[in-house]
Amino acid sequence: MRLEGKVAIITGAANGLGLEAARVFIKEGAKVALVDYDATIGEQRTAELQAEGEAVFYQVDVANQEKVVEMVSMVKERFGKIDILINNAGITRDNMLLKMSGEDFQKVMDVNVNGVFNCTQAVVPHMLEKGKGKIINTSSVSGVYGNVGQTNYAASKAAVVGMTKSWAKEFGRKNINVNAVAPGFVDTNMVATVPEKVIQSLLQVIPLQRLGKPSDIANAYLYLASDESDYVNGTVLHVDGGIMM
Ligand code: CAA
Ligand code: NAI
Repeated sequence: MRLEGKVAIITGAANGLGLEAARVFIKEGAKVALVDYDATIGEQRTAELQAEGEAVFYQVDVANQEKVVEMVSMVKERFGKIDILINNAGITRDNMLLKMSGEDFQKVMDVNVNGVFNCTQAVVPHMLEKGKGKIINTSSVSGVYGNVGQTNYAASKAAVVGMTKSWAKEFGRKNINVNAVAPGFVDTNMVATVPEKVIQSLLQVIPLQRLGKPSDIANAYLYLASDESDYVNGTVLHVDGGIMM
C-alpha cells in the first residue's frame, strides 16, 4: 500500500493514462477524485472503481478556472485534504504548421497549459496548509524533442516542463515536490489517431520495439506520488522505451 490514506486528484481520468492511474492509486490505498469533462464515461468508470476502493467523479473542463476552483473545494470538503495532484488531462489537434488554425493552436494551449495552471493554482493552498504535497504534470516526448504535425501540442508540453521546474523551485522549500512525466507513444485513444505508417516508423526507432502501455505511465505517476520519491523535485521522468536519448 504505497499510497495508504492519501487523497489524489487525477485529471483526464475517464480514459487512458488517467484511468489506469486511478486504478493503480486505488489499489495502493489512495482515495481518488477522478476529473474529466466526459461525464458519461467518467461516471461509468468511477462506478466500476468504487468496487475496489474510494473513488468519486467530478465533471470539469480543466480549462475552466471557475469550475476547477469549485471542484478542488468539493474534494477538500469531502476528503479533508489533498495530497496528490496528477495534471494528466490533455488533447491533441495535430496538423502541419501551414494548415494549423489559430483556433486549434489556442484550444490545445487552453487545455494543456491553462488547465495545468488552473488545477495547480487551486490545489497548492491546500498542500501549503498541510506542509506536504506531490504534483505530477504530464509532458510528452513531443514537448521535449518536437514532433512533425504537433506545433501546438509540442509547445504546450514544453510549457508544462517550464511550469514544472518553476513550481519545483517555488514550492520546494514548502515540502511540495513538483515533477513531470514525459511519456513516449502509449497505446490509448490519443495514439489511435496517428496514421499507421507513422506508427510503423516509430516502432523502428523505439529500442524496446513496442508502444507504451497505460500501466507503464501509471507506475511512473505512482513512484512520483509516493513517499519513495521525497527527494525527487523538478525532474522530467522520460517513460518512452528509449525513443529519445
Ligand atoms: N516525420 C517526417 N515527415 C513526416 C512525418 C514524420 N513523423 N509525418 C508526416 N511527414 C511528412 C509526410 O511524409 C509528407 O511529406 P511530403 O509532403 O513530402 O509527402 C508531409 O509531412 C505531410 O504529411 P501528411 O501527408 O501526413 O499530411 P496531412 O496534412 O495529411 O497530415 C498530420 C498531417 C495530421 C500531421 C499527420 O501526418 C499526422 O497525424 N501525423 C502524426 C502526428 C503525430 O505523431 N501525432 C502524435 C499524436 S499522439 C500524441 O501526441 C501523444 C504524445 O504525446 C506523443
Ligand atoms: P486520452 O485521450 O486517452 O485521455 C485523455 C482524457 O482527458 C480523456 O478522458 C478526455 O476526456 C480528458 N480531457 C481532455 N480534455 C479535458 C479537459 N479540458 N478537461 C477535463 N478532461 C479532459 O489521452 P491519454 O493518452 O490518456 O493522455 C493522457 C495525458 O498523457 C495527456 O496529457 C497526453 O497529452 C499525455 N501523453 C499521452 C501520450 C500517449 O502516447 N498516449 C504520450 C505523451 C503524453
